[in-house]
Amino acid sequence: MVDAADAFLILAAEYNRGITAPLKNALDALYAEWAGKPVGYVSYGMSSAGLRAVEMITPVAVALGMTPLPDVVTLPLREVLDSDGRLIPGERRARSVQLLLEELRRYAEALSQLRKPAAA
Ligand SMILES: Cc1cc2nc3c(=O)[nH]c(=O)nc-3n(C[C@H](O)[C@H](O)[C@H](O)COP(=O)(O)O)c2cc1C
Repeated sequence: MVDAADAFLILAAEYNRGITAPLKNALDALYAEWAGKPVGYVSYGMSSAGLRAVEMITPVAVALGMTPLPDVVTLPLREVLDSDGRLIPGERRARSVQLLLEELRRYAEALSQLRKPAAA
């Protein structure tokens, strides 16, 4: 599935100011399949809305040859969950995710040129 994908959107939670072990394990399990493709992030958590996890993923993503998008959509859980624990992202955040997906599509198109074999 990773090999067939042209771009990635990582939904990242933050635990103890860092990346979760299953996500790191998933990234480490492959190498060439990630390379030359863009990655966008939607992060979530309490005190930093997952941004510290994103900062930790980014060098890993770069080491694997991915191109991280500069903008991150954050979900600060104290603000976006209602009293039943349901996600209420609000119009602005929903729009930000749309823009992130559109940016991911544009990067994927551009980077697909780099993944083509060089002409002899
Ligand atoms: C042990 C533990 C450590 C956590 N550490 C952080 C943290 O450092 N920063 C943060 O923003 N949120 C932290 N959280 C909040 C989690 O990001 C939040 O509970 C989130 O919903 C976890 O994702 P999950 O429900 O998909 O497992 C922590 C939660 C737990 C249980």
